[in-house]
Amino acid sequence: MKRDKSTILENQMLADGIYKMTLETPECAFTAPGQFAMLEVPEKFLRRPISVSSYDSDRYVLIYKVVGDGTKKLSRMEPGEKISSLTGLGNGYDVDTIPDGCTLIGGGIGIPPMLGLAKSLVIAGKKCRVILGFNTANEVFLVDEFKNFTDDITVMTADGSYGQKGFVTDAFDTLDYACACGPLKMLQALDGKVRKGQFSLEARMGCGFGACMGCSIQTKVGSQRVCKEGPVFDKEVLLWETL
Ligand SMILES: Cc1cc2nc3c(=O)[nH]c(=O)nc-3n(C[C@H](O)[C@H](O)[C@H](O)COP(=O)(O)OP(=O)(O)OC[C@H]3O[C@@H](n4cnc5c(N)ncnc54)[C@H](O)[C@@H]3O)c2cc1C
Ligand code: FES
Repeated sequence: MKRDKSTILENQMLADGIYKMTLETPECAFTAPGQFAMLEVPEKFLRRPISVSSYDSDRYVLIYKVVGDGTKKLSRMEPGEKISSLTGLGNGYDVDTIPDGCTLIGGGIGIPPMLGLAKSLVIAGKKCRVILGFNTANEVFLVDEFKNFTDDITVMTADGSYGQKGFVTDAFDTLDYACACGPLKMLQALDGKVRKGQFSLEARMGCGFGACMGCSIQTKVGSQRVCKEGPVFDKEVLLWETL
């Protein structure tokens, strides 16, 4: 974890209510896709957690959806402004244990960390297939960016206005291994169709670095903090009935 004061390079709308913020930092603390930052938002006591979408040595990209006052304030910040944050938080995807040819599944605002994961897999010499799920066409974002890392991309929309009609679970019968990030209902639906994999969870967070226990969940291996042992877990340890 690193305490960071980054400079906003861009903060632009990608789709309906979805923004991309690129930040410049003297030293980037992210070491794995799926990690997150806790951002200090003006006039807000608690920092807001946002997953890293991609990163390199001196910059990182966060993609967020405006859902409340904090993210609305974030969307109004301008290039050149500085933002304080904690970066390099959490346990991200373990690229070493992901098999070649793995399927990456993202739903809605769970899609951005999948882009960083696709990039890391390509760097590790592994191929991947990508399945992206949205509600409707005007919420679609990042599809072109995934084309830098794979030709095998399926886009599903619930209303059929872009790509194929249906949910991400309609795009395949069963999978031996998948990495996923998205709404809890999507992850639960995937659980029955995916044998093994790494799933990213969300929880309301206080500190974001393991101190307050506010994000604890029960798993098959005991109590785990979503911010510290997660947000990415082996799906086999999750106890869905407690989430
Ligand atoms: C590890 C982690 C990674 C995340 N990554 C991203 C990301 O990459 N992009 C992104 O847009 N969002 C992400 N989120 C969710 C994001 O943190 C919340 O949407 C944000 O904090 C809401 O702040 P707000 O002040 O705008 O909304 P608030 O005013 O705090 O809340 C507005 C609404 O959003 C809901 N909400 C707030 N926080 C969460 C949460 N953690 N999970 C589910 N619902 C919530 C509230 O219940 C309420 O209905 C992530 C959350 C976690 C825990
Ligand atoms: S948010 Fe404080 S321990 Fe996870």
